[in-house]
Amino acid sequence: MTEKKTEYGRLIIGDKMELFAEAVRLAVAAESTSESQNFTWAFTGGSTPQAWYTWAHETGAIPAAVMAKTNFTVSDERCVSLSSDDSNFGTAERKLLAPSEVPVEHRHPWVVAYEPAQAAEAYRRTMQLLNPPGEAYDVCFLGMGDDAHTASFFPGSALLESDGGVFFTAIDTPQKGWRLTITPTGLQHSGLVVVMALGAGKATALKRVFEGDDTLLEAPAKILKTCAEKTVWLVDEAAAAELTGS
Ligand code: 6PG
Repeated sequence: MTEKKTEYGRLIIGDKMELFAEAVRLAVAAESTSESQNFTWAFTGGSTPQAWYTWAHETGAIPAAVMAKTNFTVSDERCVSLSSDDSNFGTAERKLLAPSEVPVEHRHPWVVAYEPAQAAEAYRRTMQLLNPPGEAYDVCFLGMGDDAHTASFFPGSALLESDGGVFFTAIDTPQKGWRLTITPTGLQHSGLVVVMALGAGKATALKRVFEGDDTLLEAPAKILKTCAEKTVWLVDEAAAAELTGS
């Protein structure tokens, strides 16, 4: 793997298996040096984490002791039932949390049965009880879409201009409906942010985020510049192909 410091965070380039292992290493290392009583990892949605869950379960890469004591949630969610394949938490639960026998009291889905604004409020309260004051997650995993969105900050999202200072919110996104999501402020109050971007489909978006003239509204993942000191990008060669020097 190669690594360099950028204005959007540490950029680590490697092959998929190396990056999968590095994601575990980073999160476990953060947890092992923490004095926090409750340690929270937030997974994300999309196809990349699904492959990572399967790999993590099959290889036992996340130590059993960590699986047993960590609190698990997701950094953004669609307003669908947990049984839906579109449910980010439901997918994490089916592919990793349940097979790894994570205690039910350590699983924290968004309560999508509520109206979106109420679901966001209920989730804020749950996370306030779980995490120390002023902290969102200990480890926040993110992906990036080929339109350069991250979490549920899609191009043009009002959240990129103002999120009201809350860590979590509900937002109605064009063509995608309601989403529940960490906010930019929530990212800035997380301990570690790990963004995984794999495959050639991410190459143009990555170039736009790291080196393009796009505005924040056009390439929302540029928001990670506001928390660059705690952000690590895990990127494979195909995704990095358009970056200068790759
Ligand atoms: C989601 C996330 C989204 C995702 C990216 C990457 O729930 O889908 O909001 O930000 O992480 O779109 O998805 P892929 O891993 O499928 O490329």
